[in-house]
Amino acid sequence: MDQGAAVLGLESSCDETAAAVLRADGSILAEAVLSQLAEHSPYGGVVPEIAARAHLDHLPRLVAQVMAEAGLAYRDLAGVAATAGPGLIGGLIVGSSLGKGIALAHGLPFVAVNHLEAHALTATLPGIVAEPVAFPYLLLLLSGGHCQCVAVEGVGRYRRLGTTLDDAVGEAFDKSAKLLGLPWPGGPALERLAATGDAARVPLPRPLLGRAGCDFSWSGLKTAVAHALARSAGTDRDRADIAAAFQASVAVVLADRARHALDMLPATTALVVAGGVAANQGVRAALAGVAAERGLPLVAPPVRLCTDNAVMVAWAGIERLRLGLTDALGHAPRPRWPLEGMAAA
Ligand code: KG4
Ligand code: ZN
Repeated sequence: MDQGAAVLGLESSCDETAAAVLRADGSILAEAVLSQLAEHSPYGGVVPEIAARAHLDHLPRLVAQVMAEAGLAYRDLAGVAATAGPGLIGGLIVGSSLGKGIALAHGLPFVAVNHLEAHALTATLPGIVAEPVAFPYLLLLLSGGHCQCVAVEGVGRYRRLGTTLDDAVGEAFDKSAKLLGLPWPGGPALERLAATGDAARVPLPRPLLGRAGCDFSWSGLKTAVAHALARSAGTDRDRADIAAAFQASVAVVLADRARHALDMLPATTALVVAGGVAANQGVRAALAGVAAERGLPLVAPPVRLCTDNAVMVAWAGIERLRLGLTDALGHAPRPRWPLEGMAAA
């Protein structure tokens, strides 16, 4: 594929509606993300039906907007890439159907992108990190829906080394934040509260610390937060101390799991972190410590590319198109789509 070729990417798997146009050299011509926070916050979580309708309302306009900003007509594109799973089926149908429609109308190749692959390949986007990352690398995917250690060995070649046995780490942040009386989504609010607390005053468990392998388990920690709150007088100081202890426990456990995952992938060139929880400074600092111990770079994309976005979808589409990997217009979106099930290059 010509380095100047442009690809349109669409993301609609959860509660972010996003579109972007990228060139094959990685330059971002236009990007737009619309968060549905306001629509879902009265319910304290993402409501699938509301999400699907919101994608339907907003995605066509975002596509027109990024195409205009990129200064391109549809016929100028080299392809259309849309997230086709895993995620909420309503949103996946909206985004992938719109992508297929554009591809069909303009005779363009279509790429059905695995959302996890898009997170995984963000680290190879030129210009995102100072040093381009080479395969294989260890990816820690830490979001509201996913909590995995993945060996990224090439485009389409992934090995899951560990995963959560219960909640995703972002879910643990959100549920603990709710217990602490913070608004949804709780991660950023809990981080702010934790900054004012003393992590040493309230002992909380450190699930699976030191255990073989690199699986995770967060639901016990959330329950421990509930018990600690019930035992306390519930003052602002108590809440801040519990938030700080929760975040410290997550950071220590993530560092431990990352060490185990690195032992399972000795050839790794970097420790890469992605997903909304990668925005957390305590988590980043703990993982930076592990990377430094091993003499590896810690690669953390800027926050806007760690959380859900369409730049990563367009980039995954470019990587696949480069290898001649396209999908038929009959490709069915998949609510569940493990990375190991990918077509490899
Ligand atoms: O990757 P993401 O935008 O969406 C998916 O879940 O796919 O991640 C959202 C998650 C939420 O659980 C949110 O609370 C968490 O990331 N999060 C954070 C922070 N910012 C977002 N968790 C801890 N600290 C943060 N600063
Ligand atoms: Zn995501």
